[in-house]
Amino acid sequence: MRGLSLRFRIAGGVLAGLVVLFTVFGFLAVRTIDLSVDVALDERLRLAQISAGAVDELLEHTALQLERAALFVAAGTPDEERRHVADAYDLLGEFDRIVRLGADGSVLWIVPSQPDDADWPAGQNAAVRAALRGVGTSVVAPARGDPADDLIAIIVTSLERQDRPAGFLAGELRASHADVDLLMLPASEGSVRAEIVDATGYVVAQPHDGDPDRPDAHVGILGPIISRGEPGTTIHEIENGPDHVIAYYPFRSHPGGVVVEQTEDAAFVIPQQMQRTLLVYGVVALAISSVAAWLHAHTVVRPIRRLTSDAARMAYGDLDSPITVARNDEIGELGRHFDEMRVKLKASLEESARWAAELEHRVDERTREVEEKNRELNVLNRIRRQLLAKTISAQEEERKRLARELHDDSAQTLTAVLMTLKTAEDALPAGPHDARKAMDRSRSQLELALREIRKAIVDLRPSALDDLGLAAAARTYATEHLRPYGIKVAFSVSGDEQRATGAAATAVFRIVQEAVSNAARHSGARKVRISLDFGPSAVVTEVKDDGAGFDPAGFHQPQESGRGLGLLGMRERAELFGGDVEIESGAGTGTTVRVRIPYA
Ligand SMILES: Nc1ncnc2c1ncn2[C@@H]1O[C@H](COP(=O)(O)OP(=O)(O)OP(=O)(O)O)[C@@H](O)[C@H]1O
Ligand SMILES: [Mg+2]
Repeated sequence: MRGLSLRFRIAGGVLAGLVVLFTVFGFLAVRTIDLSVDVALDERLRLAQISAGAVDELLEHTALQLERAALFVAAGTPDEERRHVADAYDLLGEFDRIVRLGADGSVLWIVPSQPDDADWPAGQNAAVRAALRGVGTSVVAPARGDPADDLIAIIVTSLERQDRPAGFLAGELRASHADVDLLMLPASEGSVRAEIVDATGYVVAQPHDGDPDRPDAHVGILGPIISRGEPGTTIHEIENGPDHVIAYYPFRSHPGGVVVEQTEDAAFVIPQQMQRTLLVYGVVALAISSVAAWLHAHTVVRPIRRLTSDAARMAYGDLDSPITVARNDEIGELGRHFDEMRVKLKASLEESARWAAELEHRVDERTREVEEKNRELNVLNRIRRQLLAKTISAQEEERKRLARELHDDSAQTLTAVLMTLKTAEDALPAGPHDARKAMDRSRSQLELALREIRKAIVDLRPSALDDLGLAAAARTYATEHLRPYGIKVAFSVSGDEQRATGAAATAVFRIVQEAVSNAARHSGARKVRISLDFGPSAVVTEVKDDGAGFDPAGFHQPQESGRGLGLLGMRERAELFGGDVEIESGAGTGTTVRVRIPYA
């Protein structure tokens, strides 16, 4: 399978790097956004703290004022009490109402006075009742009532008298009445609003705008934070609108605290803006980088492609067109090296072609020379064969003539002399002993000479060859020549002997003669088997001994001593008649000479 193209690899690599880079930056951006969110939450908490602090300070200050007023009131007579309280009310200005309570908690009167003074609602408040049991000053959270009432706290202080319990003064503090703006964040500016909540998260006071929160709006979400008694922030999920960020800070002076609330959109406007900007810029930057990576890959790959096609052209044998890459970088260098390679390759190919042509020329010349020599050799061979044939037939003729002459003349003459000698010997009187003896010796010598001459005649040309045929001549020759060496002869003939006549028969005889002579002289055999098989087209002769054997491979040419011509002569003779000689021999396995000679 073909791998990804270089262009994809480069672009992919660059893109992968970019994606990693963007991921890291994205992570950092998310961290920054998270931090911005934390900062935004902290800021809301700080606002709540400032508001809560202001309320705390106001309460402490007001409690102190009421304590002082109580001292002053207690110092006077009971008749003067109401006037003193009314003066204090006017002087202090912070209280919405000041209630004079009896020692048992009953309402005696209220400044400013109201028609239903006796039914002061806070009198039923359990916290107020608890405060009435103590001594000193307490800040009491208002009972859960109407948030529009704005009642922030009730300050209860006892009227100390030495002789008897004198009751209490209770000052109501309302957000709307206080000189100080307790909820400093008006609802109209942005989406931030502040509320005062009691110890259960119930709204006690809130800005007077067109869209007040339900009193129990935050009870559920603020519960866990308030129960910890520590400041905290949370998100208020609104069903049909944007979620709200809520920051709560508790009062020091009494249970409850200030809640600062803002829509999430407004609170996190910077992080969200950052998020959107990052996303848009990130996507645009990634798109631009991708295109840039792709173009970059293209500019790198284009010259490489060109180089590749040039190299392919070179591979297909076009070494004439130059390779040009007009660049000064590594690819340009590669192109230049390629071109150098092309030039060198071309030169070396031309050189090789020259050499090949030269070589071919020389080979042609040599071939012609060899052919010429071969022709000469063939002619020489033919002449040699003709000469050999002539020599052999001349030799045979000469042997025949010599044998005939020896037989007809010398042997006849010697026979006649021998007979004459015998006659003379017989005719000699018995007296001259020496003469008889000498004659006797001469006769023996003559008989010896005659035997030798007869043997020579047979060797030269056994008359049996002409008279009795090849088989008989071969058998006689073998028997006579092997017997003196104590070698037994087994002779067999098969086929029609009449088929082999003339020169072919003579050749077979001469070969048998040589084989028998070798067996006698070299083999040391005890037995020699000779077989003649007169087949339909050729006579196959086998001379097999059980002697020492030899290595025939060493006798394909004559020895320096002049020996070794016998085996060669056999082959020459056989080949002259279109036949062949096989010699099987080896140390200890005996020797088999097999000759096949066609009839004509
Ligand atoms: N039947 C055999 N058994 C063992 N050795 C043989 C036999 N025939 C040939 N050889 C070995 O092969 C050699 C070559 O034989 P070859 O007939 O060519 O030469 P030669 O007999 O030595 O001499 P000549 O030329 O007189 O025949 C011999 O010298 C002999 O060592
Ligand atoms: Mg020999």
